[in-house]
Amino acid sequence: MSTQMHKDDVTGVDTTGHEWDGIKELNNPLPKWWIYTFYACILWAVAYWVVMPAWPYFWNGAWRHTEGVVGYTQRGSVAGELQAVAAARADVMKQIAEMPIEDVAKNDTLMELALAGGKAAFGDNCAPCHGSGAAGGKGFPNLNDDDWIWGGTLSDIQTTVTHGIRWEADEDTRQNQMPRFLDDSMLKSEQINDAAEYVLSLSNKADDAAAATRGAAVFEQNCASCHGADAKGNQELGAPNLTDAIWLYGGDKETIVQTISHGRGGVMPAWGGRLSAATVKELALYVHSLGGGK
Ligand code: HEC
Ligand code: HEC
Repeated sequence: MSTQMHKDDVTGVDTTGHEWDGIKELNNPLPKWWIYTFYACILWAVAYWVVMPAWPYFWNGAWRHTEGVVGYTQRGSVAGELQAVAAARADVMKQIAEMPIEDVAKNDTLMELALAGGKAAFGDNCAPCHGSGAAGGKGFPNLNDDDWIWGGTLSDIQTTVTHGIRWEADEDTRQNQMPRFLDDSMLKSEQINDAAEYVLSLSNKADDAAAATRGAAVFEQNCASCHGADAKGNQELGAPNLTDAIWLYGGDKETIVQTISHGRGGVMPAWGGRLSAATVKELALYVHSLGGGK
């Protein structure tokens, strides 16, 4: 192999001086565009090392890296995004807190956010008692239907959620207690049996017509003051409608006798002190939207 450089006769281009078995290499320059791109890449790399985190190094017993003048970290970037979401949410919460609940319900944008917020807050706070789908269970009312114990307007629901039901720590809590007719010797067992037959007769389930007729008189004297002369309930007093087929505790005779004998007194916590005013409104809007809102 010779290392002699000379001009190639055919192309007029310099050779590199390399030659293998009579084949010589032409020294064609690289294209201009390639050279400039190459230099630009080098400049970009150097600038990147200066601006962004780049070089790892071991110092003072630990691996570190150059942090770059902008101090970027992916963790910082995520935190920033979360902060932006929280700030947007805080603004919505402030608007909801300041508006009457009926006005929030009329504002489509706020309503969409309120229902999403209410659904999340329901899962966190209410589902343990009312069920994740709000269908309730024995002693815990179904919130999807239009059968309300304490009222189903937005403001009724807001009041219930804010102050709770028979929640002693809240002085504005919904209050009213069904008497314990047997325990407090207000009625004899026979009278309770008759009253239960009468209650059953209201949904056509009485077995003993004579007892039901006697029970009607017991009802008028002892029960109508809360449940109404027609037994359709009274939402001011939280006395359930006894004529529909919807039962909080159960509509079989044994359960009804138990209710009358020992009372019930279901308790629901007050949320006004625990959750923000905006969250309580979101919850009320969400519950109202479940299908039974008035
Ligand atoms: C510890 C159990 C418990 C939790 C938790 C609970 N509730 Fe209740 N809730 C009850 C009980 C019990 C009642 C029925 C009380 C009664 O009138 O006998 C009730 C009743 C209600 C009512 C009234 C229903 C009607 O027919 O008038 C609403 C509305 C309601 N709850 C909403 C909520 C919301 C919203 C939450 C979450 C913030 C919640 N509850 C959390 C136990 C609970
Ligand atoms: C002082 C008011 C008051 C009086 C009087 C009263 N009740 Fe009640 N009753 C209530 C309240 C409030 C409830 C809801 C109990 C709860 O949620 O703990 C209730 C619940 C019931 C229930 C359960 C309904 C269900 O859905 O499971 C039955 C049944 C009932 N009452 C029957 C009677 C009968 C019969 C009498 C008369 C012998 C009577 N009540 C008298 C207030 C009253």
